[in-house]
Amino acid sequence: MPAHFTEQHSAETVNGRISPESSPRLRQIMAALVNHLHALVKEVQLTPEEWETAIGFLTRTGQLCSDRRQEFILLSDTLGVSMLVDAINHRRPGNATENTVFGPFHVAGAPELPMGSRISRDGKGESCLFTGRVLDLDGRPIAGAVLDVWSDNADGFYDVQQPGVQPDWNNRGRFTTGPDGHYSFIGIKPVSYPIPDDGPVGQMLAALGRHPWRPAHMHFLVSAPGFDRLTTHVFVAGDTYLDSDAVFGVKTSLIADFKRNATADAEWLCQFDFVLNPA
Ligand code: BEZ
Ligand code: FE
Repeated sequence: MPAHFTEQHSAETVNGRISPESSPRLRQIMAALVNHLHALVKEVQLTPEEWETAIGFLTRTGQLCSDRRQEFILLSDTLGVSMLVDAINHRRPGNATENTVFGPFHVAGAPELPMGSRISRDGKGESCLFTGRVLDLDGRPIAGAVLDVWSDNADGFYDVQQPGVQPDWNNRGRFTTGPDGHYSFIGIKPVSYPIPDDGPVGQMLAALGRHPWRPAHMHFLVSAPGFDRLTTHVFVAGDTYLDSDAVFGVKTSLIADFKRNATADAEWLCQFDFVLNPA
């Protein structure tokens, strides 16, 4: 491998500088990154103007990040990388509930509420009873499972996107199962919404002719001692965007039929059981 840079051996020359004393995993990842990056530049014969555009794009992506906004995660989500990392790291047996993308709108410390509570605090939207059980792979109920749930409001925004407009903790709550593994709470039937598209990721989507919409869903983070934490959504069957989710989060097993007027407690009913994989 030549010590000086040549087009032909570019990646080998760069990777040849990595110290054998550096972390083996870091070495593996960085060498693969350099190999793939150089291969990309060669494949598309990248021009200096295009490289400058790419650097400008990444610069603006970083500049938009704050403790309220994570444009890099949005980039990872819209490129399908978040879902791929999740898929590789959460291979589960067939009957365990599947993971999907976590998203940027979870807030730790949501109110702990008794089963059956209402979580919608702004009076908007169509009420929906969410109910079901948390089970192990053999169908036995799991006691002491914590369900941390969150959704957008009827206008398609999470409370954290509209501070001072929506009440704090609107459409959020935490529920702990008893011995029967049962959960229930009343939220709203979620609506589809666009991911934040006023930054570089939105510009990228527009330039590629992609829309920014996510199909309607309720988020669930389900954890119980001795089980793999489940990060998932339940999607509303029939939503326009199920086959074109901007962040590729939809899995067929996570789509539920929402039934109208099926319960006296709310306008809609969503029944869904969660099956946890052992840790
Ligand atoms: C969400 O479902 O909250 C979400 C996920 C990925 C990107 C943006 C939003
Ligand atoms: Fe969401």
